[in-house]
Amino acid sequence: MGLKSVRVVRVGHRYVRDYRTLTHLCLVSRALGAEAIYLEEVEKELQETVGEVNRTWGGDFAVVEGKWRRAFQDAKADGRAIVHLTMYGTPLQDDVADLRKHDSFLIAVGGPKVPGEVYRLADYNVAVTSQPHSEVAALAITIHELQEGEELKKVFGDYKLRIVPSAKGKRVEQKT
Ligand SMILES: C[S@@+](CC[C@H](N)C(=O)[O-])C[C@H]1O[C@@H](n2cnc3c(N)ncnc32)[C@H](O)[C@@H]1O
Repeated sequence: MGLKSVRVVRVGHRYVRDYRTLTHLCLVSRALGAEAIYLEEVEKELQETVGEVNRTWGGDFAVVEGKWRRAFQDAKADGRAIVHLTMYGTPLQDDVADLRKHDSFLIAVGGPKVPGEVYRLADYNVAVTSQPHSEVAALAITIHELQEGEELKKVFGDYKLRIVPSAKGKRVEQKT
């Protein structure tokens, strides 16, 4: 089974400039096989951090500056299922079988404020437990469920460094 196509959008991060959370959203999306993340504002430092991770560890994960509405419109035009993660939604475990029928997704996560329109425009409003926690954790669990664990096996092309998994210690191979 190959990987399903996943893109991520962060809604409304303008309200809080939380660089660390945005960086974690980017790195988790990339590591778990997503193709791109859409952010309403992309600071140069974030673009450089993700670019450096791509150059070192491979792949071509993209950070795209754009409004969430545009990302939703593009997803609808592409036939991507829009999955908005919110603690108010229906439980992931109830929706997952239906979600897995789709081949491509736009996963929307929020910051402190999510406009009501997001709930209406999303195809699914999904809760990863009905407790408040983190967009990073909710995203990781959702991708893991959608990809059924295949994302853990993703091989990143065009790397400089590659970790050789090891039960003890650190082994890193440098591409010559
Ligand atoms: C700081 S939380 C804001 C909590 C917000 N009251 C809500 O609607 O979930 C930021 C983001 O984390 C995600 N999130 C937090 N808890 C979640 C949960 N239990 N299930 C799914 N997503 C969650 C949502 O995407 C949310 O917009």
